[in-house]
Amino acid sequence: MIQTVQSGNQLSARDRRANDMEIVPLGAMLGAEIRGLDLTDKIDQGQSEALNAALMAQKVLVFRDQDITSDQHLAFGRMFGEVTIHPFVPHLPEMPEMLVLDNHQDNPVLSTDMWHSDETFREEPPMGSILRCREMPPVGGDTMWADMTAALGGLSDKMQGFLSGLEAIHDFKPFRRRFAGLPVKERHEKLAEFEERYPNPVHPVVTTHPVTGDKVLFINEQFTLAIKDMREDESRTLLDFLFTLPRIPEYQFRLSWEKNTIAFWDNRPTQHYAANDYFPQRRTMHRITIKGVRPN
Ligand code: OGA
Ligand code: MN
Repeated sequence: MIQTVQSGNQLSARDRRANDMEIVPLGAMLGAEIRGLDLTDKIDQGQSEALNAALMAQKVLVFRDQDITSDQHLAFGRMFGEVTIHPFVPHLPEMPEMLVLDNHQDNPVLSTDMWHSDETFREEPPMGSILRCREMPPVGGDTMWADMTAALGGLSDKMQGFLSGLEAIHDFKPFRRRFAGLPVKERHEKLAEFEERYPNPVHPVVTTHPVTGDKVLFINEQFTLAIKDMREDESRTLLDFLFTLPRIPEYQFRLSWEKNTIAFWDNRPTQHYAANDYFPQRRTMHRITIKGVRPN
């Protein structure tokens, strides 16, 4: 059924080498492993530029066996832009920039088992996220990414044309559950405070990647509420269809983590989903998030 437009992820032997590192494509559409780079060493400007170029081309970069400190993780993130703090997800007590996903028996997964790009409830969603595995269950706990440029390109020209003029309303909806246990008055006050700080942004349904110029289907099941100026039933039906697209295997790359694997993804042309198949085992991940610009 699915005819992919092109397999965008092949490199010539020459292009595989950049600044002493090797870029090894992993998925047909997206994903590459970076070899020959030790992130416990200081990364220089040339290396960060080569990584940035690889990120634009491959969309998800994987680094294995990187036993770095949290400070090194943060410093690595800062080479690619301003680092942001998540308003709802817990972080290391001594480092608010380090988001912590620590799931186990007493802390089941909240929302990463839904296709999404990160924090599109912001006016300026992140440019990228750098996720490091601290602890993995013996089996399971993979993450999948989908190429939302390929997903858009797989639609008919008629559908792409129709989508290109639309806008969507986003919301921090899964995080509303965080306030559920509070007494009513406090819950309303807290929600009102966050609604004021993060008013529903309107983002185009089809965005243009600010670096590559690629068109991207930019709606996601976690944060997109509705298509603006449509009837509710129209909006629901259209979104329900669009939410099926990242689930198509041809657009995906799947990563099996090990302790100290790092994945750095371009948050703008991709969505991701963390398989929630290891409960009640423990899985712990640390994330640094890099600020982006308003999508258009
Ligand atoms: C994230 C996220 C996926 C995972 O950190 O943004 O969605 O595999 N995590 O834990
Ligand atoms: Mn995420």
